[in-house]
Amino acid sequence: SRYFIIDCDTAEDDIMSLFMLLRYGIDVKGITIVEGNIAFDQEVNNALWALEFINKDIPVYLGSRRPIVKSYRTVENVHGKGGIGDLIPEPKTLKAQNKSAIDAIIDLANTYPGELEFLAISPLTNLALAYLKDNSIAKKIRKVWIMGGTIYGRGNITPVAEYNIWVDPDAAKIIFNSGMDLTMVAWDLITNYTIDEKEWKYIMSMNTKMSNFYISIYEHYRKFAMQYQKMNGNPHPDLITTSIAIDSSVATKVEKQYVDIENCDCLTRGMTVIDYLGVLNKNPNTNVVYEIDKQKFISMLYNLLSWF
Ligand code: BDR
Ligand code: CA
Repeated sequence: SRYFIIDCDTAEDDIMSLFMLLRYGIDVKGITIVEGNIAFDQEVNNALWALEFINKDIPVYLGSRRPIVKSYRTVENVHGKGGIGDLIPEPKTLKAQNKSAIDAIIDLANTYPGELEFLAISPLTNLALAYLKDNSIAKKIRKVWIMGGTIYGRGNITPVAEYNIWVDPDAAKIIFNSGMDLTMVAWDLITNYTIDEKEWKYIMSMNTKMSNFYISIYEHYRKFAMQYQKMNGNPHPDLITTSIAIDSSVATKVEKQYVDIENCDCLTRGMTVIDYLGVLNKNPNTNVVYEIDKQKFISMLYNLLSWF
């Protein structure tokens, strides 16, 4: 089987991403928590609570509580106070590990060199700190799947920046220039593949434990996306990235390009700059996804929701 670390700023879409990996038989070696969507300790609690929901005990490691250089802000307005709406999850029995996420990433990369994959559906601080501590992980981690950035310059936290990259553009700059094997799934790509009214109603009608869980944790995000983000349903940034990581044929158009990150203290901070024409004469460093097979993604989602 395949070995993964999933790096989370645990809101609803991060939780479903973890579940999808497990549903598809991926051996998840660790969940690493990083600053992002909501208060850090709530992100930790959400990960443990989600594991209790599916009755699995996977190690949860605590990572960075803040970006490397500058400050950031959480987005409870998008995901709700608890990251899954207004409910504030609390785990009953599970606890986080004592080992830090940074050391867990390095140790797992050394235990499974050439095999370990890293699913980055959150700011890149943990991975950058691990890389700064041990450069050799760049060649040991088989693939890094990134939910982040934009391909057409349409952001969600600033006009041109996507949240995960914007939170820690310095970490992102380190990772995009690290030589790791990167695949990037952009925000303004996934906004084209939302769960519309018909699909939402269908999911309601499934009435499984998992589909009911899905409806309850996405309701807040769905309302926000439709009211403030010009979408006709709820988006799945993390989950689409995860589906591509599981089955790369979900991505139907991919181009290898040089991507760099704007980390100035300026209007375009956190922007992903893609060298479409190769005018910078740099080696392409990123597999950039430009199209997905929506039906394939939806069938993976429905398969997850019919789990139990
Ligand atoms: C990204 O930020 C978070 O809100 C989501 O979970 C996703 O990882 C979207 O910009
Ligand atoms: Ca996320």
